[in-house]
Parts: sequence; C-alpha cells; structure tokens
Amino acid sequence: MSRAVPLLDALADVGADRVRGGYSRHGFDRADHTLREWFTGEAEARGLDVDVDRNGNLWAWWGTPGPGAVVTGSHLDSVPGGGAFDGPLGVVSALAAVDVLRARGFDPAKPVVLVVFAEEEGGRFGVPCLGSRLLAGTLDAEHARALRDPDGVTLAEAVRATGLDPATLGRDDESLARVGCFVELHVEQGRGLVDLGAPVGVAESILAHGRWRLTLHGEGNHAGATALADRADPMLPAASLVLAARRAAASVPGARATVGRLVPTPGGTNVIPSTVDAWLDARASDGPGTRRVVEDVVAAAREAAEAEGCTLSVREESYGGTVTFDAGLREVVSGALGGVPALPTGAGHDAGVLAARVPTAMLFVRNPTGVSHAPAEHAEADDCEAGVTALARVLAHLAGS
Ligand code: GLV
Ligand code: MN
Ligand code: MN
Ligand code: MN
Repeated sequence: MSRAVPLLDALADVGADRVRGGYSRHGFDRADHTLREWFTGEAEARGLDVDVDRNGNLWAWWGTPGPGAVVTGSHLDSVPGGGAFDGPLGVVSALAAVDVLRARGFDPAKPVVLVVFAEEEGGRFGVPCLGSRLLAGTLDAEHARALRDPDGVTLAEAVRATGLDPATLGRDDESLARVGCFVELHVEQGRGLVDLGAPVGVAESILAHGRWRLTLHGEGNHAGATALADRADPMLPAASLVLAARRAAASVPGARATVGRLVPTPGGTNVIPSTVDAWLDARASDGPGTRRVVEDVVAAAREAAEAEGCTLSVREESYGGTVTFDAGLREVVSGALGGVPALPTGAGHDAGVLAARVPTAMLFVRNPTGVSHAPAEHAEADDCEAGVTALARVLAHLAGS
C-alpha cells in the first residue's frame, strides 16, 4: 500500500465523467474548485500556509515564504475523460512526501513548497499549462483573458467567478523569484520504465509541441434536399485533414500528430455543417520538425477545402519548443536516489514551462500499460510508494542543511 493511494482514493468521485468514463476536471470549474478546496484542507492540516497567486496557482508553504524554495507538485485538472493519475499523482505524492519527512523529524533549511498549477491540460480554454505559462510570462495576459471555453465563457469571467481578479493575470516574477528549483513527480505516459524494469526514473527532455485550430468553412444546408454537386461540405476536407495528419507525422522521424477534437457546427445528423473545427496536436523532437508537420497538414487541408468549394483558416493556440531538463539538477536528483534511469517523454508538463526560468527536474512513476489521457491510466500501489519515497528523498536532499 502506498501513502499516495488513500489520498488519490479521496478524490475518486470528484469530476467522475459518467458519459465518457474517467474524469473531466477542468480549470476553474466545479470539480476543480472541489479539488482545490481539498488540497487546501490537506495542506493546512499539515500546518502549511496556502497562497493563491495572481494566476490561480496554489502554493502551500512549509517554512517562511522566501527565495530558494524547493518546489514540488503538479496539477489536479484532467483531459476530458482522463485518468486518475495524470496530475493528481504528483500532488498527492507531494503531500505524502511531507508526511514522510515530518515523521522522520526533518526540519527543512530551505522552504519546501507544494504547488498546484491551474488548467495544465488546457481542457477548458484550449491552452495547455495555462497557469504556469501565465506565471512564467510565456502567455500574453491580454490574449489569455479573452480565451473562451466551449460554452463561450471567457477565462476572465471564469477566474472572476472564483474570486480572482482577471486584471492581475500575467507574468509573476515575484512568485517565480522564490522558486529555487522545481521537481514535478508524474505518472509516466509511455512504457519506458516498464521496458527498463524500474519503478522510478527522471525526465531528460520533452518533445516540441503545439496546438493549432483549423477551421473549414462551407455552406450549411439540408442533408436530404441538397444534391451532391451543390454542396460545400466542410466535413470532406476535415476527413482529408485527419488522414494528412497521420501522413505528415509519418514523414518526420519521431513526430506525432493527432486530431483529437473535431466539431461540426451546428452538429445535426441531417445538416451539412457550415463549419468544422479541427484541433491539431503536433509534436516532434525539434521545432522545425513540428512546424513541417503542421505546414504539410495545412497544405493538404487547403487543397481539399478548395476542391469542395470550402475555405480554411488556421490559428496557432499554443506552442512550446523542445525542453531539455537542467542536467545538473537531474544528476543531483538521480544521485540522491542512488542512480535511476533518465528518459525522454512526449507529454507536456508545467515542469517544461518552468524549465525555461528555473532549474527543473521531473520524476516519473512506472505506468504498467503506458496508457494515459484515458480512463485505463494506472500505476501500481507499490510503484506509487516508490515515487513517494523517492520524492521525499529528493526533497530532503535539496532542502536539507
Ligand atoms: C498534456 O499532458 C499533454 O502532453 O498534452
Ligand atoms: Mn496530461
Ligand atoms: Mn500531467
Ligand atoms: Mn501534461
């Protein structure tokens, strides 16, 4: 049994998605609010002081707030229909690691801080790592305030409803200046540790990745009354776009491209859509490779759109270059654990955003199937416990005298 498991179990009903399965917990929604309240309660029960920063990220301090803090944590939101571990495992492991250190009588020489970043998955407002990007200043606040969720609610409105002033969103050098280093523990999203036969590893790098919204504009019309020759049906170029994404990614070694969301408007069975929005997630080992995939998909979609009498518009919603984690901190973390494997990942993380500003490392916990962003995502209790033990050891090393 792991100390992390009862904490995860306490969240089992929050944001459970009865339609998709798994969890749908999105930034500043009801489930997110419940999770943040839960975290605040758990942190305060451990004697930690909880602050909310200008961007809605939570910071729970063990020690006096100030520079040089050793920060750990992750996020509590999920993708639509996501698993129980992506995000929450890092948060509950941080709480459990504090328990381990407390039980041992550890007295940190540097403040230890548990952080919960807001809307990491971008499941509601489309931009991943929203809270950490705003904090780090890699997302323009003006642009962010105007982001809309699928119901048309702006980020400004959503944060105001939680009691946060949207005017304060944006780069927060004061909060960042306190971060000496950041260590995020996360369930592995892949089978690297399974193949290596190791319960815990450290991250080496993250693929360059971004999201693009491709909108195909056609002519809304009647499914029965409109002859085939008279149609400008945007679903046809949308289908070509999906196929082009697979082809384009296959032409760049190691690249990935996914159309995980395709929304016809108005979305009636007997209606030729007037528009189709397709969200493209593209990743590759470097920026130029990622851009090449996107350019190929856009070119194919444009050609297919013209053939159907439709048009295409493209908007970049987010982009982040390749992340290589701080080699010095990685050595320190791995050394504190007696040497653990280092591995790359294709998944994005708040740690990848922070890595541009402060020394940052990640610990991965083995995932027996490698499945993630799906209800089947899993980590065995023994491996979760190995993660807690490793994180406690790393925090003691980094925050000790
Ligand atoms: C987030 O987990 C991502 O990699 O998309
Ligand atoms: Mn995720
Ligand atoms: Mn995550
Ligand atoms: Mn992620």
